[in-house]
Formats: sequence, C-alpha cells, structure tokens
Amino acid sequence: MSDDKQQIIDMLHKAYRMEVETVANYLANSIHLDGVRAEEVKRSLDEDITEELGHAQKLAHRIKQLGGRVRGSLELEFDQKSLRPPEDSTDVLSVVKGVIEAEKTGIDHYRSIIDATEENDPVTADLVTQILAEEEEHRTQFEGFQRELDAEASVTA
Ligand SMILES: [Fe+2]
Ligand SMILES: [Fe+2]
Repeated sequence: MSDDKQQIIDMLHKAYRMEVETVANYLANSIHLDGVRAEEVKRSLDEDITEELGHAQKLAHRIKQLGGRVRGSLELEFDQKSLRPPEDSTDVLSVVKGVIEAEKTGIDHYRSIIDATEENDPVTADLVTQILAEEEEHRTQFEGFQRELDAEASVTA
C-alpha cells in the first residue's frame, strides 16, 4: 500500500474513532441531563446519535474500500474529556459547550482530510464533505443553545 493511501486510511481511522466516541457521549448525555432547560438539548442529542452513527458507518465503509481493516473497541483510544456527563445533571451549559468543542474538533479534522484527498481521492473528499456539512449544522445548533443559556445566566446573575 502506498504511503499516501495509508495516510488517508489513518485519518479515516481517527475520524471513525471520534464518531464512535461521540455516539457514546451523546447517548450518555441525552439521558443524564435533568431539568426544563435540558429537554431540548436532550432531544437534539438523541437525534444526533443516529446521525453520528451514520457517519461512523460511512467512514467504516470507506476504510474497507481502501483496503483497511475497521477497528474494534480495544483499538479505539477515546479522548473527549469535554463530553463527560457532568456531576451536576442540571449543568446543561457544560454539555452544550462540550458538544461545540467536539463538533469543532471534528470539523477541523474533516477539513484536513478534504485537504489531503481533494486532488487524488475525490470519493473520500466528497464523502467527508457531506459529513462536514452535517457537523457544521450541529455546531450551529448548539451555538444557538449556548447563546440562549448565556442570555438566561446574565438575566439571573
Ligand atoms: Fe459526526
Ligand atoms: Fe456532529
């Protein structure tokens, strides 16, 4: 296998790992949070689980098509510290901020995959561009939640 192809597969492995980790953390937070303000965020996370799982599936198919082996749980090294369900289950803002950070990290990684593939691997570039569009939508939605929560906090302060 060429170095270029291996580099692309490695980048897809990382993206796959991030998506699977996002599924686990969105799942946990979609159930963990409590309170009136949590309901909309929980519903949104619940819907995103399916989308993020779909991203993982698309990435896994591409890894296989390129000749790679999709990794199992023991080979996935998770690192999303910002998305741990908070001790205080009403701390919706910390989860919203964690989601924004996770989405931004994903967006940056997808942009670098597009940079690395747009010339020589248009299929991967196209696939990742579709995923990128959905991550930007998630980020925008959660930035809206954050604005609302910040506004509420400044009224009650
Ligand atoms: Fe995703
Ligand atoms: Fe996302």
